[in-house]
Amino acid sequence: MKADDLKKSALMLMLWLPVAVAAQKFPELAPTPPMGWNSWNTFGVHIDENLIKEMSGALISSGMLEAGFNYIVIDDGWESMSRDANGALIPDPARFPSGMKALGDYLHSKGFKFGIHNCAGTKTCSGFPGGRGHEFEDARTYASWGVDFLKYDWCEHGTANAEETYKTMSDALHAAGRPIVFSICEWGNNKPWLWGPKIAQLWRTTGDITDCYDCQDVYAMGWKYILKLQMGLEPYAGPEHWNDPDMLEVGNAGLSLAESRSHFSLWCMLAAPLMAGNDARKMPDEIRGILTNRELIAVDQDPLGKEGFQFMEHPGKEIWAKELSAGSWAVCFFNNSESTVRIRVKWENLSFLKGVYGIRDLWQKESLGTTAKDYTGDLAPHDVTVFRLAPVREQP
Ligand code: GLA
Repeated sequence: MKADDLKKSALMLMLWLPVAVAAQKFPELAPTPPMGWNSWNTFGVHIDENLIKEMSGALISSGMLEAGFNYIVIDDGWESMSRDANGALIPDPARFPSGMKALGDYLHSKGFKFGIHNCAGTKTCSGFPGGRGHEFEDARTYASWGVDFLKYDWCEHGTANAEETYKTMSDALHAAGRPIVFSICEWGNNKPWLWGPKIAQLWRTTGDITDCYDCQDVYAMGWKYILKLQMGLEPYAGPEHWNDPDMLEVGNAGLSLAESRSHFSLWCMLAAPLMAGNDARKMPDEIRGILTNRELIAVDQDPLGKEGFQFMEHPGKEIWAKELSAGSWAVCFFNNSESTVRIRVKWENLSFLKGVYGIRDLWQKESLGTTAKDYTGDLAPHDVTVFRLAPVREQP
């Protein structure tokens, strides 16, 4: 090879290498945390196309779609027990007889985005075909069905390396060409917050949530238990890359109304993806009121994209803070004890505040003057008070 040719080949290699190894991710799919509804928490694998259609109707009539819950994600249980003769994924013919393309079209026609679940291992956690070794063909299948969101689980992964495995699927989605939100569901085992931002819009930080307040066993945890596990992960979240502390249990049987309200509030403080997991067809008004509280949702969806943090914990009281755009803050007082506590707030003790702010109570939906005056209020067990503080220009 001549010196010139050698130089040319070296240059080409340099140009080619970074492209070959760089992660590919669709831009501008999740400037704020994704919101929607997912079938798993209430229905497990007992799902079919009628249920999904009915749920879409309930999400519309309850005002949830309008409030921002626009992804409908069909979790584990939609597949046939095996792939077709060509190796393609197929839905269960009895439960999804119209096929996934038709269901996706239906959801799109109602104003939703269409999400689906599969797994990075050889099988899903419920034993249906997983994606391992089929990533590129599966991504083309999802694109052809009009899928907008893929939740990708971690059962039956054997000795696979998590980062490489999820990168393969991310590359496959990119190669298929349809912008699809990639939701890593690896349970936080391999610190996905370190490598997830390059390849996905969100990643689970823990194992599964269940509908209790603070329980924990080998399979699942209550939301309060999960909340603690989020501490320290705040720096990893931001626009287009979100920590996911798992889906909402708001409205499900194991939580009291106060516990549902606190769960929702704290997930909003965390800038968590808000995936409702209740039966929206049978939702009492109080639960609808929680899930469609626009002022709380605005805290979650604030364009600054900062995840909140625990500012302080006293016996029975936790204070969480979230920086918002335009110099505002959300502050959440959470009573994690079994008795009513009195909250006395001297605002100047919240050291992140600068100057005087107007106070808005986001559950009472009323304005309460300014932070120039101390606040005192009672908080029932497991309940929260959430304030939005907006800077006032003129000091009183
Ligand atoms: C895992 C996930 C859950 C759900 C189930 C489905 O446990 O973490 O969110 O998707 O699989 O089998």
